[in-house]
Order: sequence, then C-alpha cells, then structure tokens
Amino acid sequence: MYNYKIIPTRKKTFQLLQNSLADRDNSKSLEVLEIGIGGGANLEYYPDNCNLTVVDKNKFFEPYFKKNAKNYPHINYKRTVIQCAENMTEIQDNSMDIVVTSYFQCSCYDPQAVVKEILRVLKPGGKYVCMEHVGFPKNTIGLYIQKMVYPIWFLYSNGCTPHRDIAKVIKKAGFSDVICKEYDFGHWMTYIVKPHLIALATK
Ligand SMILES: C[S@@+](CC[C@H](N)C(=O)[O-])C[C@H]1O[C@@H](n2cnc3c(N)ncnc32)[C@H](O)[C@@H]1O
Repeated sequence: MYNYKIIPTRKKTFQLLQNSLADRDNSKSLEVLEIGIGGGANLEYYPDNCNLTVVDKNKFFEPYFKKNAKNYPHINYKRTVIQCAENMTEIQDNSMDIVVTSYFQCSCYDPQAVVKEILRVLKPGGKYVCMEHVGFPKNTIGLYIQKMVYPIWFLYSNGCTPHRDIAKVIKKAGFSDVICKEYDFGHWMTYIVKPHLIALATK
C-alpha cells in the first residue's frame, strides 16, 4: 500500500527531469547512475536511451532488480558496483549525465558525503534527481514526533532516519541550480515517513 502511494511522487519527479531534458538529442545515450536501486521501482520512468550503472552497498537486491530490468528495453544495463555511495571509487569523475536516488538518503550513513560524491561523478550540466521522505519543518509537532520515535524506528526499519533535512544538504552542496518541492500525501500510518521531497539539482 505504501509503495502504491509513492507512485505519484515518482511520476512527478521524473516529469521534472523530462522537462529539463526537453532539448535533448535522443539519438545520444545518457549515462545514468542510480544509487540504492532496490528492486528498480524507478526504471519505468527513465528517459529513452539510457546506459545504466547501479551502486548499492548490498548485493542481495540484484536478482530482483535484474528481473525487473528485463521489462524496460529502453534501458541498457551496464554494471552494478557493490560499494558505499559515500566513497564511489569505481565511478569516474565527470562521467554521468544523471544520478538518481530515491528513498535512499534516509538510510545512507552520511548524506553530505553522498551528495559530494554525486557532484564529483556528474558531468558539468548533469542532473541529480532525488526523491525522499524527510523531516517536518523546524518547531513542528511532526518533527518532535519523528525525533522521539527515531531510536526505535532506526532499529526496526533498516537504519532509516526519518527527520533528515535533505533539501538543506542538496542546497548547500554547490550545485549551480536546485529545484526542491515538498509533498504531503496524508495517511496517519505513514506519518513518520512524510513529507516527501522531490529535488532536481544541476551541476
Ligand atoms: C529503501 S531502499 C530504496 C529502494 C529504491 N530506491 C526505491 O525507491 O524503492 C534503500 C537502498 O539503498 C541501499 N543503501 C543504503 N545505504 C547505502 C549506502 N551508504 N551506499 C550504497 N547503498 C546504500 C540499500 O542497500 C537499499 O538497496
């Protein structure tokens, strides 16, 4: 049910990317890096003619992602790198047109280090596409509740920190342009993992 609720957010995020690629020459392939791809829930929204590299710290997701990728022939899967996103030594500087993360920044070790790495691997003019559940604004009851439940939440949800301010991390990282939008799809059961951030940052 929760994944189903996220679908409109995924569509909005990739629409933002598509709009930014309006002048693109489709005959030229795009180098895309997705970090923390899980089962590949974003693949159906990718632009045409993509070469996909994947980085994840965990190799167990791979069979699910590879099975799913067969449904999307507009994506040319290149390779998976099993590495932490905070230190992607296998990915060259200035080599990617697009980097995607979704529902990953909540559980990585160090969002600042990851965004620094994303800036390094993006080509000049390259785009960072981010979708994430984030903290409520300062001095709200929502943020207070997120912080209160965090120690238990972290233990039982695979290291997820619900109150991170990912928009601030992206805005401070040194991109030339950043678009951030927040969405709140309401259901009391998902209170801890909202609002949702959509961001498109250009190197
Ligand atoms: C919650 S899943 C997100 C799945 C998918 N992106 C989605 O939108 O449904 C988080 C993924 O990020 C990976 N991950 C978490 N921390 C990481 C890190 N520091 N470096 C690389 N991968 C990481 C996990 O192994 C997992 O595959």
